[in-house]
Formats: sequence, C-alpha cells, structure tokens
Amino acid sequence: ENIYVGVDLGGTAIKVGICNAEGHLLHTYEGPTGTQEGVDTVIDNIVKYVRQIVEDSPYTWDQLAGVGAGVAGFTNIREGIIILAPNIGFRDVPIRAILEERLNKPVKIDNDANVAALGEAWSGAGRGVDNCVCYTLGTGVGGGIIINGKIYQGFGGLAGELGHISVVPDLEAIQCGCGKMGCLETVSSATGIIRMANDAVARGDRTSLSMVEKIAAKEVFDAAKAGDEVAIRIVNRAAFYLGKSMAAVAAVLNPESFIVGGGVSKAGDILFDEVRRVFAKLAPEPLQGGVSIIPAELGNDAGIVGAAGLLLRS
Ligand code: BGC
Ligand code: NA
Ligand code: ZN
Repeated sequence: ENIYVGVDLGGTAIKVGICNAEGHLLHTYEGPTGTQEGVDTVIDNIVKYVRQIVEDSPYTWDQLAGVGAGVAGFTNIREGIIILAPNIGFRDVPIRAILEERLNKPVKIDNDANVAALGEAWSGAGRGVDNCVCYTLGTGVGGGIIINGKIYQGFGGLAGELGHISVVPDLEAIQCGCGKMGCLETVSSATGIIRMANDAVARGDRTSLSMVEKIAAKEVFDAAKAGDEVAIRIVNRAAFYLGKSMAAVAAVLNPESFIVGGGVSKAGDILFDEVRRVFAKLAPEPLQGGVSIIPAELGNDAGIVGAAGLLLRS
C-alpha cells in the first residue's frame, strides 16, 4: 500500500500527516517551524518531521509515494518556488527542488488555502461537490477555488487569493500586508478582528473588551455572544465583508458551496448567520439558488490532507 505525506507549513508550526490513497489521515505529527532561525532551519525541520512520522508509523520509507506541502503565501507551483511567505520569512525559495533532493521522493507544493480547499473537496465539507470556493480565516485570509474537483490555478498559479480582494470603501480602508488598501484580509482575518477590537478600546467605546491582556479573536466572539454591542459590531463587520466578497465571487464562478475554515470560523452561527444574511442581500437571486455557505469539516487537518492530495488529485 502506498502512503502520501502532507505537510502544512505555517508561520509557527509545521504539521505533517500520513494519508492513504483514499484521503484518510492515518497519523499526524507537529513541530515548531523555527522561523526565527531562518530558511535552512525551517527546511531541515520539514525533512526531519517527514522522516520522523514515517519512522514512527507502521509504514516503510519505500511505501512513501510522495510528499505534498501547503505553504502560507504566494507560490509558483510550476517551478515549485515559494515566491513570498511573510509569516515564514521565505522569499524566492525553490522548495520543491530542495525537498526532492533531500528526501529523494516526488514533491509538490501549493498555497496553504488551495491545499485546504482540495482537502475539503476530497474528504471534507466539499465531498461530492464539483465546484466550491473555500476561505480560510486565520492570521491572514486565504482562498482556494475548486473547479471540477481540481484546484483552479490561474495564469501564474496565484488564483484564489481571496483575502486580497479589495472590499472596504476608500475612506475606511487600511493597508494590507500585501501593500494594497482595503483587502478582505484587513477586516475578516483574526488579525483584523483583533485590530478592530483594540481600536474600539483605545477610542474608549463602551465594551467589556479591554486591552489589559492581549485581545484574541475568540474573546471578541465570546463578548459578542454575551451581547456586547461593540463586539457584535466588529463581528458583523468581519461577516459583512466576507459575505460581500462571496456575492462577487458567486457572480464570477457560481460555485455550489462556500466553505469557511480557519480559527475564526469556530465562531459558529454568530458569524455564519450574518454572512448568509449579507450574501442573500447582495447576490442576485438566481446566483443564490441551492448555494450553501458552510463551515469546513476537516478543521486543522484540511491542509495536511489536501497537501497529500496534491500527489493524487492535481
Ligand atoms: C496570503 C495567502 C495565504 C493566506 C492564509 C494571505 O495573506 O496572501 O497566500 O493563503 O494568507 O495563510
Ligand atoms: Na489560494
Ligand atoms: Zn492584501
């Protein structure tokens, strides 16, 4: 039996997992990325964790048919290069060639959210759906487009950067990590939500939130659920722009479902109800028919499963 290792390369942790050919996750392992120690250490860590997980499993190295990796940043999948991954400190790193040489196995890479979308389509919330669009709401906002069961790559392999759709009107827009103004990521990421909460506290708005401790996105959702009006306003704002972006995406792609994952999606109904309401308000009615907006199912594992899936499904 062949096995496939999926790698989820993020800013703080590298998660690896063994999948079989059906997309079932059999083993997982997680270790620090080592971003502070630089590119070479990060690559050493990937190699170490991949070797480790196979060693700790009942499978042999010979059964390993290949390694797939999802990377939190702009990737050139044809050349196997990480163009820019600010959270990992990578710029123009030919990761595929390096890993193929070090592991002596076929390697494929792709963007983290593309890979999460593939994972959801393969064995999560997008099972049995031909066309779906996934959002990952975390430190950044990632996106992945699945068309006919495959990741849609676009001209330079950069399709699906949904976090960088400019949605916030000029007067309220702030600059995004990509350098441009008003991106979805500035309002609907965990980072954006935390920023809005800090701003509200700094302005002296009446809220149960306080900056005594560093505010986490989860606290904003908890406060909103408890009826804190400032927190509700922030959650609604994050939801509004997400729903607005979906209405635009629906007009372009008419996907069957929008799948929303990442830490922020754990907010649940308080977020989803509002996103659905905004989508219903802004998307032309024919584009709403049968379209669902649903939470991701694989949670933290979507990236690993989808990365393994790169070898089988792309
Ligand atoms: C990056 C994407 C990435 C997303 C989630 C964004 O800021 O541009 O490439 O998928 O964050 O990690
Ligand atoms: Na993407
Ligand atoms: Zn941006």
